[in-house]
Amino acid sequence: MKHVVKSPRGTRDIIGAALAPFLLLEKISREKACLWGFEEIRFPSFEHAQLFEKGTGDTTDIVEKEMYVFEDRGGRKLALRPEGTPSVVRAYIENNLSSIRKKAALFYIGSMFRAERPQAGRYREFEHIGFEYFGDAQAYADFEVMCLANSILVEFGIKPKFWVSSIGCPQCRKPYSVSVRSSLKDIEAQLCQDCKRRIEKNPLRALDCKICSHKTAQLAPPFSKCDACAGHEQNLLDLLKASNVPYELNPKIVRGLDYYTRTVFEITATDDPASIAIGGGGRYDGLVEVFGGPKTPAAGFAFGADRVVEALAGTQQGTANEKEKPVSERIFLTSAADNPEVISHVVGTAQKLRGDGVAAELSILTDSLKSQLRQAGKSGARFCATIGEEEVKSGEFSFKNFVTGESKKLLYEAMVKHVKNA
Ligand code: HAM
Repeated sequence: MKHVVKSPRGTRDIIGAALAPFLLLEKISREKACLWGFEEIRFPSFEHAQLFEKGTGDTTDIVEKEMYVFEDRGGRKLALRPEGTPSVVRAYIENNLSSIRKKAALFYIGSMFRAERPQAGRYREFEHIGFEYFGDAQAYADFEVMCLANSILVEFGIKPKFWVSSIGCPQCRKPYSVSVRSSLKDIEAQLCQDCKRRIEKNPLRALDCKICSHKTAQLAPPFSKCDACAGHEQNLLDLLKASNVPYELNPKIVRGLDYYTRTVFEITATDDPASIAIGGGGRYDGLVEVFGGPKTPAAGFAFGADRVVEALAGTQQGTANEKEKPVSERIFLTSAADNPEVISHVVGTAQKLRGDGVAAELSILTDSLKSQLRQAGKSGARFCATIGEEEVKSGEFSFKNFVTGESKKLLYEAMVKHVKNA
């Protein structure tokens, strides 16, 4: 094992029981998406890099520092998707969804890629479960997506907290931007190279730079919204107040993506605003137009599935494992005789069981029975059936239920019945 090729830094394998909470979270998300009227969309894992440069923003950390960009054989500049929102907007326009119906609600589940420095809860390939809601400019839409996020998390076993803010619209952000720029100029010498460039191009991005934010965040002057943005925020807060969504206003929220307008929010699994975000989102009323589509208001969010799963494991509040039946309702088939007739009977029995809707797993049939029974014990299967020469003749299986410890001889039909009723 000298030259073992390992998984790339920041990626990981998730196997068996460790995958179960992800499958459960995906299942709950799909069920809730259906209840809220969202349709699933799958879109490419890579896109033209320009999509994220224009959408996520070419001065964001995600695009400037973390995006996996490559040239294909035709010399096209492509990127592994670092997030889903620009792709869904592209798909919304490319598939002409706005002409089909005024409102569109889409969700997606899939890997995203960011070349971040790996640490707890931060991977280079991670899963997003994201929801995008097009066509409604009112705070009801923001509220809808937040309720959906809350409902999924609660069902999964997490007590979330929503940290809400408003970053206004391009109009009310303009004077704010000017004032942040002048504060940044005062400490220019202390800033990283990217933030030095951002002073002119996009000063607000310096507020969430992973390197400089501890110096820049406190420079941010109080943000004063225009009347329309303040009204939108108040409407959302009124809706939240009357709901069961646990929220708190937090004007410090600075999302690391350029497209947001008005509402922004982050979700944590604790009451500490500094704890790791398990999800985030907001309104992005200008993005469809940026890509040449019709003026379309939109709001959405994405969970970081890895972080949601880790939060559940960390808080121990959840009952995910109890809810999800372990994938072990299957029969582990062993052969008591190393003889081709018996072995082919075992193999045939496995096919028959599966055809009858019973999960079946084969041991290494040419191993000794002792070794096969050891494999059965470790397999996680709930049942074991052993077939020998006698069983082939009598049609009865030596059957064991590992959970109850019960052992008995059963004919095929009785064995199927036992497993299905267990
Ligand atoms: P985001 O905040 O960049 O938003 O990502 C959403 C969530 O993905 C984060 O809250 C976090 O839980 C998770 N996440 C981000 N980076 C990593 C990482 N390196 N490893 C593990 N988890 C991570 C968006 O991407 C927006 N597209 C969300 C949105 C949808 N806004 C509107 N619609």
